[in-house]
Amino acid sequence: MKRLSAFAALFLLFDSLQAEVSFITEAEYASQLYHSPRGIGCHKCHGDQGEGRLIASYKDKGEDKVFHPPAINQIGYDAFVDAMKKRQKGMPRYFLTANEIKALFFYLHQKESDNAH
Ligand code: HEC
Repeated sequence: MKRLSAFAALFLLFDSLQAEVSFITEAEYASQLYHSPRGIGCHKCHGDQGEGRLIASYKDKGEDKVFHPPAINQIGYDAFVDAMKKRQKGMPRYFLTANEIKALFFYLHQKESDNAH
């Protein structure tokens, strides 16, 4: 009898751990991926909402230059997917899956779909 209740307790613990793992929403997953996509976070260069960000201004051979990764929250889904598959000057390559790219796009456009409701 005692053994059975220990087993039951273990089962309950396992069950609640499982629940914890699956209680991450799509929005949380998308946000995590945007900030930590198996490489340097997108927000470091494109800003937290994908609004673009001025990283540095400097002089090169007497000319004023800036490193200003563009806004990425304005382009459409197809252009976003294409851009993620191509080499971008000044951006690491990520080799993300189609679903990961979709999640990133979702992250960048969450606010708009919230407003639509
Ligand atoms: C080290 C800085 C850096 C990081 C990190 C970075 N990018 Fe970029 N990204 C750039 C730069 C710079 C460009 C512009 C390239 C150009 O103008 O040729 C760019 C371009 C893009 C474009 C194309 C924009 C357009 O209008 O065509 C997309 C989409 C994009 N990045 C998405 C992402 C996503 C998503 C992540 C994270 C997975 C990310 N970037 C991480 C620097 C970065």
